[in-house]
Amino acid sequence: MTTFTERPSANVDVANIARIYDYYLGGLYNFEVDRQKAERIRSVLPSVELLARANRDWLRRSVRFLLAQGIDQFVDLASGLPTMNNTHEVAHARNPRARVVYVDCEPSAVLHGEDILADEPLVAMIEADGREPEQVWSHPRVRELIDLSRPVGLIMGGLLVFVDDKDDPAALLAAYRDACAPGSYLSVSHLSDDQADAETRTQVARMSDAYLAGVGQRLYVRDREAIAAWFEGMELVEPGLTLMADWRPDPGLDVDAQTPSRVLGYGATARVR
Ligand SMILES: C[S@@+](CC[C@H](N)C(=O)[O-])C[C@H]1O[C@@H](n2cnc3c(N)ncnc32)[C@H](O)[C@@H]1O
Repeated sequence: MTTFTERPSANVDVANIARIYDYYLGGLYNFEVDRQKAERIRSVLPSVELLARANRDWLRRSVRFLLAQGIDQFVDLASGLPTMNNTHEVAHARNPRARVVYVDCEPSAVLHGEDILADEPLVAMIEADGREPEQVWSHPRVRELIDLSRPVGLIMGGLLVFVDDKDDPAALLAAYRDACAPGSYLSVSHLSDDQADAETRTQVARMSDAYLAGVGQRLYVRDREAIAAWFEGMELVEPGLTLMADWRPDPGLDVDAQTPSRVLGYGATARVR
């Protein structure tokens, strides 16, 4: 593994979500400042680490499903760091020739990602705002690695939780769909608390506050109905929009599905016609 060095331009004085997430996943790409913020968030939502792991498990299963459909090129929006069973690691275990572009808006996360991927010619990490599809599609590394005339797997693991209703998540999803060739797939996961008990809901609300205070990003927690509406007119693959833990579960590999966090997120995959 590439040694985790402090690149001069990577901001290691301020916590960032990608490194906090890496910490929850048991990774090495985080600093004291990230761990302190991560623990503060955990103090309000004790199951946050299991939630991160359940989301990464969902992503792993989604990528494997797309590989089984013949997808060999992936764009992973709001990816976080390219470690801990992230998209290229899962893809290359099945198809070493698969191409993957990770997209994140945090410059520090992208700098770390570039280091981590230095020896991976078929994988890139770019800095772009996932709310701006043109920024993504026009990026030179995307143009070099991804052929939009062929089916692509577009992964949105947690992107839309950062998108305000006034920025129209449904229109954003549709814009990505329209840019992809028929036979492409969009895999989406989203934080939710509509099946949680009252105590866990309060914890989720406090976690959102802690995220805002800690890293300056607002999380939009939504119910199943709101998320389902974004997919209207799209063809969802079986089993449709479900709790992440129920989307093609893999009991031997998934985190314990009985944890309180199992109801805190939905996942779905749509096929582009
Ligand atoms: C929870 S982490 C990574 C989750 C990962 N996709 C997964 O499913 O396991 C969320 C990441 O989204 C990034 N992010 C937040 N808003 C974004 C935006 N508008 N565009 C791109 N990345 C964004 C953050 O910087 C962070 O690294």
